[in-house]
Parts: sequence; structure tokens; C-alpha cells
Amino acid sequence: MATCINLTCLLHLLLFGATILPFAHAHTLRPNFRVRAVNLGGWLVTEGWIKPSLFDAIPNKDFLDGTGLQFKSVTTQKYLCAESGGGTIIVANRTAASGWETFTLWRINETTFRFRVFNKQFMGLDGIKVVAVVNTSTDSKTFHIIRKSNDSNRVRIKSSNGFFLQAKTEELVTADVSEVNGWGDDDPTVFVLTIAKRMQGEFQITNGYGPHKARQVMKEHWSTFIVEDDFEFIVKSKLNAVRMPVGWWIASDPTPPPPYVGGSLQALDKAFSWAQKYGVKIIIDLHAAPGSQNGFEHSSSRDGSQEWGKTDDNIRQTVRVIEFLTARYAKSPSLFAVELINEPLAPGVTLESLSKYYKAGYEAVRRHSPTAYVVLSNRLGPSQPRELFPLASGLMGSVIDVHYYDLFSDVFNNMTVQQNIDYVRVNQSSSLTHITTSNGPFTFVGEWVSEWQVKNATEEDYQRFSAAQLAVFGRATFGWAYWTLKNVNNHWSLEWMVNNGYIKL
Ligand SMILES: *[C@@H]1O[C@H](CO)[C@@H](O)[C@H](O)[C@H]1NC(C)=O
Ligand SMILES: *[C@@H]1O[C@H](CO)[C@@H](O)[C@H](O)[C@H]1NC(C)=O
Ligand SMILES: *[C@@H]1O[C@H](CO)[C@@H](O)[C@H](O)[C@H]1NC(C)=O
Ligand SMILES: *[C@@H]1O[C@H](CO)[C@@H](O)[C@H](O)[C@H]1NC(C)=O
Ligand SMILES: *[C@@H]1O[C@H](CO)[C@@H](O)[C@H](O)[C@H]1NC(C)=O
Ligand SMILES: *[C@@H]1O[C@H](CO)[C@@H](O)[C@H](O)[C@H]1NC(C)=O
Ligand SMILES: *[C@@H]1O[C@H](CO)[C@@H](O)[C@H](O)[C@H]1NC(C)=O
Repeated sequence: MATCINLTCLLHLLLFGATILPFAHAHTLRPNFRVRAVNLGGWLVTEGWIKPSLFDAIPNKDFLDGTGLQFKSVTTQKYLCAESGGGTIIVANRTAASGWETFTLWRINETTFRFRVFNKQFMGLDGIKVVAVVNTSTDSKTFHIIRKSNDSNRVRIKSSNGFFLQAKTEELVTADVSEVNGWGDDDPTVFVLTIAKRMQGEFQITNGYGPHKARQVMKEHWSTFIVEDDFEFIVKSKLNAVRMPVGWWIASDPTPPPPYVGGSLQALDKAFSWAQKYGVKIIIDLHAAPGSQNGFEHSSSRDGSQEWGKTDDNIRQTVRVIEFLTARYAKSPSLFAVELINEPLAPGVTLESLSKYYKAGYEAVRRHSPTAYVVLSNRLGPSQPRELFPLASGLMGSVIDVHYYDLFSDVFNNMTVQQNIDYVRVNQSSSLTHITTSNGPFTFVGEWVSEWQVKNATEEDYQRFSAAQLAVFGRATFGWAYWTLKNVNNHWSLEWMVNNGYIKL
């Protein structure tokens, strides 16, 4: 305010002075209860593994966006490779396949694709020579993948100009064969296919079904996956909040940019009305930010790449999503917190761009709500657990979110039941203590699950494990949220865990 020296700014102060006032009391912002929440994961942003059947009816569902394909020539018995990872020719001289030998699909429709290589270029043609020098998708060639009818791992690749690719020699791959016959081992147009990687997120499902069918499938999912009864269950289970993962395209509902389809905002509106009816608080969680903040399918990356935060425009676009959501729900008694972004991944997301975003996102929330808590997710990957403290300590009502899983690292592979429990009590407990201070930001364990690498654990083992987690995570000053409410894997489904006595809340 001290810097308010021009007329526009003064006018702004006069007009909005009333909304600034309550903000002055915000330094006393302190939750009078701790959040005991469950994530409503997989509802407004889909993730294949939560409900794989959603993907079942996609035509040619082996070939969704982000699928990584490897091709072994039947004649050279070597793999196709983007030499140097991309930027030059395609060769067929590699005996083993990993990054450079993996071609990632961009799906145009069920039979037509662009091929993206390790260094992000797209496959194209230079005359008849197959190359990977094209930086932009629009300039790249499209290809068909033709599978042998009784052996779907034997394939040909046909360029959009009508010619089939062949491994002419180990060092020369061309697109110059117009007629093919049979699928013999002496045919240089034939390749053996390996699917090295799959992705099943919101981008894959919507682009996989195509606009018309995707609208139907998502509508059906939104109206059946989470219903009013779930809020009743949540309250009965003595939970007081939900963490609600949403995708950035919700801000342009009902006409989000393709392939996304409209309808998620209506579903969120419904959740707010049920939450109000049952007295449940909502933590809105921007789980998928434009460009993807971690490359995972749950942030709706198209092909595993991570582009969020690289430009000021991208950050501004994300702030507008936060502004939209807060403005829409600020008046609801159920809006408890807004989480600005989920699991940004270092080093792709730098502390500098994240801090810039958090500051602007915080201000966007405050423009509409003096009382909503603002949740800042710690970075995954190489980062310091207290790196957000300098920023957060200046932001009233800010919360640091950390996620604790006894998974996703080899250190858990051979741990016993007791070792897992000790890890929670000793290691995760001390991590949490390290970031929990009396005058700093509040702390939130925004994701955890009662699952581990232990094989054949008993119900009692799970009860002890979840009791240890609840005791430790219950010390987070803001609270915790289980991942997730519903899941085909029983232990990842809080509903199943509660109904079967594996967790006592
Ligand atoms: C897929 O797209 C290609 C290129 O735009 C087009 O030629 C082809 O007809 C399309 N196929 C289907 C099944 O829509
Ligand atoms: C593609 O991008 C690379 C690296 O950014 C650049 O060096 C190269 O000139 C670009 N090539 C084309 C054809 O634009
Ligand atoms: C596919 O059919 C051919 C002949 O039509 C046969 O030789 C081959 O063994 C079959 N392959 C598989 C995988 O069934
Ligand atoms: C494959 O061929 C390219 C192009 O001639 C060559 O530069 C590269 O060294 C070869 N790699 C192997 C493993 O033979
Ligand atoms: C963990 O167990 C696997 C087999 O389940 C074994 O191959 C591996 O050596 C073990 N690792 C350690 C560090 O004990
Ligand atoms: C957990 O903490 C203990 C005590 O500090 C330490 O010895 C152990 O290595 C840690 N375990 C893991 C898996 O990091
Ligand atoms: C777990 O149980 C299955 C089926 O009862 C059994 O085949 C397997 O060997 C057991 N695994 C361990 C690690 O005890």
C-alpha cells in the first residue's frame, strides 16, 4: 500500500478497501481443528490405475498418448534408434533398447500418430531418409502403425506419404517401399514391437475416445464415481474434509481446449453442495497444471514431458485458474483451503519459478478470500524440506504439504512390517518435526496410504501400520489426507480399508 502512488491504485483501494479489512485480522488465521481428510483422487482428474475400466472401450487402446514403443527390425535384428537421442537420423543398429530406442506416441486418431524421440524432436522425413530433426509437432510427419492380424507385436510403419519404412541397412532407415507382401523374417519393413511405457491420465482418456465419446464417458464417470452417499460415508467415518484434485482446464469449462471435455466444473459444484449439506470442508488441489508440473499421468502430461513454470505466461495462466476457483467458491462455507499446485518436481520446476508462482497464487486467493488457507506443496525430487520457509513465513494462513509413502523407493523393498512401522515413527516423524515450527507455516500430510512392499501382510499388520501413520501424521499442524477414497486396489481405497476394519479412524 505504501507504494500506492497513482490514481488507479488509489481508486482500487477505495473500491476494495472493504475486502482488504478482514485480511488485516488474518494474522490470527489458525485452524481450530485439524484436517482429517481423504483425497477424492481419480474423479475430476482421471488416473488409469484408480479405475482402469474407464479406458477399456478406447479403440486401439494400446496406442494412447505417451505410449513408448520400441521396434526391432526382423532383418537386422537390431532396434530402431534416434541417433544421439534426436536431432539427426534414425538408425537400426542397436542391440538393446532404452531411451534413444523408445518412440513416444502423440495420438492423432486411432490409427495415426506422431513419433516423439528422446530429445523431444518428432520423427519426419528428409527426402526418403527417416530423421528426427523436427522441433514442432505441426511440422512433423504422421505415421500409421499396421499390426499383423494374428500377432499384434509384428508391425509395419507407414508414412503419411504412403510409403512403408524399412531398415535398409543397420545405418539407413528409409520410407520408400510402396508394396508389401506377407510378414516374413526377410522383409525389412517388418518390425517386432515392444511397448515400453504406458500412460493413462486425463489427456490419454479424452484424446483416446475423441471429443464425442469422451464427453459421454466422462459425464458417466463424474456422475457415478463420487455421489452424495460418499459424503455421508466421509462424515460417518469421522473425517472432516476432502482434498479435491482438479485439472487446470476446469477454469474454461464448459468448453475447455481439446482434448479435454466440459463437465468437471459441474461435478465440483455438486461436491460443494454435498459438502455444505454434510458439514465437510474442501481443499481444492490443483493437481494438473498447464504443461504438467511433474510429467506424471496424474498431472495430465501428454507424453511424460514436464513444461510447467518455464515461462511467465504459463505461470500467469495457472494463477488465473486459482483466481477462477477461489472467486467461484469463496462464499461457500465449505471452502477451507486452496492448494496452488500438487507435487511440482525438481529440478524441472525451479525454486525460483515456483516461488514466483506461489506468491502470485497466494495473492490471487487473498483477493477473494481472507480466510482460505493456502497450501504450498513441497517439491518432489532434489530439494530442501524447508526451502519454502522464507516465502511461507510472510504469508498468513499458508500451509506446507508433504507426501509420505512407504513406496516408490528401493529402500522399502525388503522391509518387514516392523521396519515399516519404525520408519514411520522414526524417519517420517522426524521429517515432519523438521518442518513443523510454532511460528512458521502449518504442516499438512496431503497424501499417505496404508500400503507397503510387505507381501502377505495380515489384517492386524495393516491395523498397526495405519495406527502408526495416524499417530505420526496427526501431529501435522494442519492435518492429513489419505490417498484415496476409491480405488480398485483395496489398500489404496479408504472406503474398503474402513469397511473392512484395516483402518480405525
Ligand atoms: C486419422 O487421421 C488421418 C490423418 O488426418 C486421416 O487420414 C484418417 O482418415 C483418420 N482415420 C480415422 C479412423 O479417423
Ligand atoms: C530445433 O531445436 C534445436 C534446439 O533448440 C535447435 O538447435 C535447432 O536449430 C532447431 N531445429 C529446427 C529445424 O528448428
Ligand atoms: C499366424 O498365422 C500364421 C499363418 O497364417 C501362422 O504361421 C502363425 O504361426 C500364426 N501366429 C500366431 C502367433 O498365431
Ligand atoms: C549406428 O550407426 C550410426 C550411424 O552410422 C553410428 O554413428 C553409430 O556409431 C552406430 N552405432 C552402433 C552401436 O553401431
Ligand atoms: C531384496 O529382496 C530381493 C528378492 O525379493 C533380493 O533379490 C534382493 O537382493 C534383496 N535386497 C536386499 C538389499 O536385501
Ligand atoms: C531412518 O532413520 C534411522 C535413524 O536416524 C537411520 O539410521 C535409517 O537409515 C533411516 N532409514 C531410512 C530407510 O532412511
Ligand atoms: C504370499 O502368499 C502367496 C499365496 O498364498 C504365496 O504363493 C507366496 O509365496 C507368499 N509370499 C510370501 C513372500 O510369503
